[in-house]
Order: sequence, then C-alpha cells, then structure tokens
Amino acid sequence: MLQIQDISVSYGKRGALALKNISLEMKPGEILGVVGESGSGKSTLLRAVLGCLPGEGYVSQGDILFEGNSLLTCSGEEWRRLRGREISIIFQDSGAMINPIRRIGSQFVEYILTHEHMSRREAWNRGAKMLEGMGLPQGERMMRSYPFQLSGGMRQRVGIAMAMTFQPKLLLADEPTSALDVSTQAQIVRQMLKLRESYGTGILVVTHNLGVAAYMADRILVMRQGQVVEAGSREEILGNPKEAYTKELLASVPAMGGERFV
Ligand SMILES: Nc1ncnc2c1ncn2[C@@H]1O[C@H](COP(=O)(O)OP(=O)(O)OP(=O)(O)O)[C@@H](O)[C@H]1O
Ligand SMILES: [Mg+2]
Repeated sequence: MLQIQDISVSYGKRGALALKNISLEMKPGEILGVVGESGSGKSTLLRAVLGCLPGEGYVSQGDILFEGNSLLTCSGEEWRRLRGREISIIFQDSGAMINPIRRIGSQFVEYILTHEHMSRREAWNRGAKMLEGMGLPQGERMMRSYPFQLSGGMRQRVGIAMAMTFQPKLLLADEPTSALDVSTQAQIVRQMLKLRESYGTGILVVTHNLGVAAYMADRILVMRQGQVVEAGSREEILGNPKEAYTKELLASVPAMGGERFV
C-alpha cells in the first residue's frame, strides 16, 4: 500500500538533512509504529507522506508510492481527491485544528461537504454516527457542543472520527495520545485498534512513547537523527532489540493506563 523508497528530506538548501535515506513499506491494514526521541524526524516523515512539509521542507531524493503511484508528483487536484478520502491524518491535539468558537457539528458538516456531495442533513447524521463510532455517547449532543465544552480526550476522538469519515486506507497519526492522561491514552489506542478491525485501515503511528507502539503496532521502526536505527516486528524490537539505542528506549518506557505493555 505505502512504499517509502530511500527518501531524504531537507528544510532549505543549506540546512542539514532532516531525514536521511529512509525506506519503509506498509501492507494494507498494517499498523506501523515509528518511535524515536524529539527531533528524530518522525513528524517530518509523516508530513513528507502527506505532501505537506512545513516551511522550505522538500524531499530531495527517493520516492513515496501509495498503491503504486508516486505521491511526490501528485497535482493539487489529485491531492484533494486523496486527502481525507484515501489518506487521513490526526495530530497530537486535534483540538488545535478545530476552531474553538464554532460548534463541532458545523465544522464536521463542512468537512464532509468539502469531500462529498450530500445534503447538510445527511452530512450531519453521518458526523453524529462517526462520533458515536468513536465511543462518544450522544453523537447529536456532541455535534451541538463547542470544542471548549469537551475534554482533551473527547476532542481527540472528534479529530479521529473526522479523519475516519471516509474510511481511508491509510491513517497517519502524529502523537495521537501524547497530550492525554494515561487512562485516556489507553482508551484512544484501543479505539484506533477497533478502527483497523472495522475498516481495515492501515495506521502509521508516530509516538515518542514506546508503550503506545508496543500496544498497537505490528511492526516498529526506531528513528534517531533522521535515520532508521532499527526496524522489525513488535516481538523482535521489544524482545530482542539489536541496537543500544533501542535498548535505551525500552528501558525508559512509561506505563500506560496503569499497565506496562513492554
Ligand atoms: N519547519 C521546519 N523548518 C526547519 N527545520 C525543521 C522544521 N520542522 C522540523 N525541522 C527539523 O527537522 C528535524 C526533525 O524534526 P521533526 O519535527 O520531524 O522531529 P520529531 O521526531 O517529530 O520530534 P518531536 O518528537 O519533538 O515531535 C529537526 O532537526 C527539526 O529541527
Ligand atoms: Mg513531531
């Protein structure tokens, strides 16, 4: 489904490379966890896939293929078709993306209508249903709420519900639980696993919390300073890490929801 072939990313011509020779592959429905310290290039990797590197960022070599087609040569029109429908993204704090002074419902309806033709009523119902599917009871009431009336965990569920509206094949998640308390973290992680079960969504989840990756991911990729340190199945990385850096990460895993998954 997704193939990243030996890409490098640089922010501006003179800057050091933020990513160096990264390759990875994801099968449909697979969950890949990308872990590494702050500044290791995790967000850069996600943004490169989505074609939205900030500032002067650009892919200086290599290619990114989604279902066999290069994403690097996509036109604006092609991206409009892909984003949201085939590939979706959620961030650390979806609350920051949601306008705080507009009701959830009006934003959700607008989001749906930019991607699909239907009546406002239908879009509203679809939104409410998605919210309930993400474990938010009373979708209707949520739709009528303002973001500031919701907890951080609820807002994150809203963000994920929006991202999943069109059942994308690939969900890119950048620190989806990092802004949440540990018990909410565990709930959101379980909810994301359910999404994979229900829709077969492949998830590329970036996290500095190896516990989250350990719980969710089929495979784990460890990054440091823009390079892949080590990659393998969850069992390989957790049970038999080869690199000293991976061992260091493993030794410093926080507990999640009162449990340690590593
Ligand atoms: N907009 C930007 N302009 C210039 N350099 C950037 C920009 N965004 C990121 N970088 C650089 O790219 C490198 C990787 O940053 P990135 O944000 O991808 O790391 P990260 O692994 O997501 O870190 P964190 O865990 O803190 O989110 C860093 O050296 C950073 O300084
Ligand atoms: Mg980041």
